[in-house]
Amino acid sequence: MESEAKRLALEQLYRDKFRPEEYLCTYYRTLDAEVEFFLRNLHHFFFVSNGGHHDGTFQEHEKQVEVSDDEMNKKKKGRRVLEIGSGPVPISMISASRWSEWIVCSDFLEQNRHNIKQWLLTMTATTTSTAPGRHDDDETWLPFFRYVTELERAESETLLLERVRHSVRAVVPCNVLLTDPLMNDKEAAQNADGNSLYDVIITTLCLEFATLSVDEYSAAVGNVTRLLSPGGFLVVQGALGNSHYWHNNHQFPSVTLSRAVVEAAVKKAGCLLVDWRELARCCPLQDKPADHSAVFYCLARKNQI
Ligand SMILES: C[S@@+](CC[C@H](N)C(=O)[O-])C[C@H]1O[C@@H](n2cnc3c(N)ncnc32)[C@H](O)[C@@H]1O
Repeated sequence: MESEAKRLALEQLYRDKFRPEEYLCTYYRTLDAEVEFFLRNLHHFFFVSNGGHHDGTFQEHEKQVEVSDDEMNKKKKGRRVLEIGSGPVPISMISASRWSEWIVCSDFLEQNRHNIKQWLLTMTATTTSTAPGRHDDDETWLPFFRYVTELERAESETLLLERVRHSVRAVVPCNVLLTDPLMNDKEAAQNADGNSLYDVIITTLCLEFATLSVDEYSAAVGNVTRLLSPGGFLVVQGALGNSHYWHNNHQFPSVTLSRAVVEAAVKKAGCLLVDWRELARCCPLQDKPADHSAVFYCLARKNQI
C-alpha cells in the first residue's frame, strides 16, 4: 500500500514537474563523453555488429561499409525497433535508423512525446521545402548527428536527419510498470505483417528512473522484454550508483544500480548477457546534477523459447 502511494507520487512528479526543454538545456546542452559513450555503443550494435548478427570486430566494420547500402536497404524493411522511455531525446534513433526503417519511440509523458513529434514534424516540413533535412530546430541535435555521421563515415548529417525522419513510424505512450508497457497501442502494433513484437528494444536512462526498488526495476526489465521477439536483442543503457538527479528544482529519484543488479534482471527476464561496457563518470556535478559513478551499456539476447 505504502509502495503503491510512492509509485503514484513518482508518476505525479514526472507529470507535473518534468519539463522537456529544461531537461535538454541541462543534460543535452553539449555532447559530452557520457553521451558519446551511449552513441558509440548504439553505433557499434547497429552498424558494426549489424544488430547483433556479427561479432563486431573492426574487420566486420570494413566489410559492412563495402557491402552495404543496397543490401542493407532491402533487409531493413522487415526489422522492427522499439525505444522505451525516449524522453524528448531523438538520438538513439540515429544508429537504429541505419538498420531498420520501422522504429517506434515511446515515453510515459505526453509532453515528451509531443516534443519528439514536433521535432519529427519540423523535419517533415523542412524536407518538402528547399533545404532537405535541416532546420533551425535541428541545431540542438546537430553535434550529436555529426558525431554519428563521423562514426559511420557517412556523407553528411543531413542524410542521417532524413533517415531518422523516414524511419520513425510512431511515438506512443508507455509505462514500464505495466505487464504490457505499450498498453496494446494500435499505432505501435501497426505493421504490414501484423507482428507486434520487436527485433530490438533500446532503453537509455529510463528504467532506473521509472522504478523505486531493485525488485520493481527487475519487473520493469521483464515487462519490456515481453515485447521482444524470441532471439531479439535488448539494449539497456543507464547510470550506475545513482540515487537521484536534479531537474526543474526537484529531486527525481533513481534505483541505485550495479552491474550485478542489471545482469540479474536481464537473466530473470529470460535473456542471455552478450556484452557489458561501462565508463566511469567524467562529467562534473555542475554540468550534470546527478550522483552516478559510471554509465553502462548492457546487451542481452532473449532466449529462443
Ligand atoms: C532521465 S529521463 C531519460 C530520457 C532519455 N531516454 C534520455 O536518455 O535522456 C527518464 C525518462 O523516463 C520516463 N519515464 C518515467 N516513468 C516512466 C514509466 N513508468 N514508464 C516509462 N517511462 C517512464 C520519463 O518520462 C523520462 O522520459
